[in-house]
Amino acid sequence: MRSLVAGNWKMNGLTAALGELGALKDGLAASSLACDVLVCPPATLIAQANGLVQGAFALGGQDCRAEASGAFTGDLSAEMLKDAGASYVIVGHSERRQYHGESDADVAAKARGAWRAGLKAIICLGETEAQRGAGAHHQVCAVQLEGSVPQDATAANTAIAYEPVWAIGTGKTPSSADILAMHAHIRACLVRRLGEAGQDVLILYGGSVNPNNCGDILNLPEVGGALVGGASLKAADFLAIITGIKAP
Ligand code: PGA
Repeated sequence: MRSLVAGNWKMNGLTAALGELGALKDGLAASSLACDVLVCPPATLIAQANGLVQGAFALGGQDCRAEASGAFTGDLSAEMLKDAGASYVIVGHSERRQYHGESDADVAAKARGAWRAGLKAIICLGETEAQRGAGAHHQVCAVQLEGSVPQDATAANTAIAYEPVWAIGTGKTPSSADILAMHAHIRACLVRRLGEAGQDVLILYGGSVNPNNCGDILNLPEVGGALVGGASLKAADFLAIITGIKAP
């Protein structure tokens, strides 16, 4: 599988921010890429972004409801995201788990909703600082994976994003050895849950990835790419991360 570098704009970006996507498109055209590229802007911008980027890179949603349609005021289905031009959707981001009380079962249902609509799901998991401090991080991620990743996940419909909660937006990152150990652990959990199909599912790292640390993180053996928040908002920073990935 080719690596994937995904940008998560979170609740940032008005129409004017589409200029960054234009700059990203131009920058990507000028470089030969060793990875796939995805931007998940706010859902309000996906349709306009789709017209602008014309398939130069993929677009995705940041969340979806599990159902296809219905009386769920304010929610968006995977079908709606797909209709607007998305080919991916992030599910189970720690901010959704924290601020919207999403459980592992909710996340698994959302992943299934994504597949039903023909979207690829990026399923997020990761421990809090207290859980790592207590030495429970491997156990916590194993439980999240078991509950959040449906058993028929494959590399074609799913990627995992390991995002330690304490590393998101803080400038802190785990050591390379810690990232390697966690990604190897997640790989073992995937194979236990999915069988052989678990070997090929991409495992992205997320949490304070920036142009300065991306080389050290993204070229680690079990790291299949990155989920990038803050540093994806400016095309120049995001391009520096994307071009930091070496061809296998
Ligand atoms: P960050 O966010 O890169 O700003 O730490 C990552 C994420 O939450 O996906």
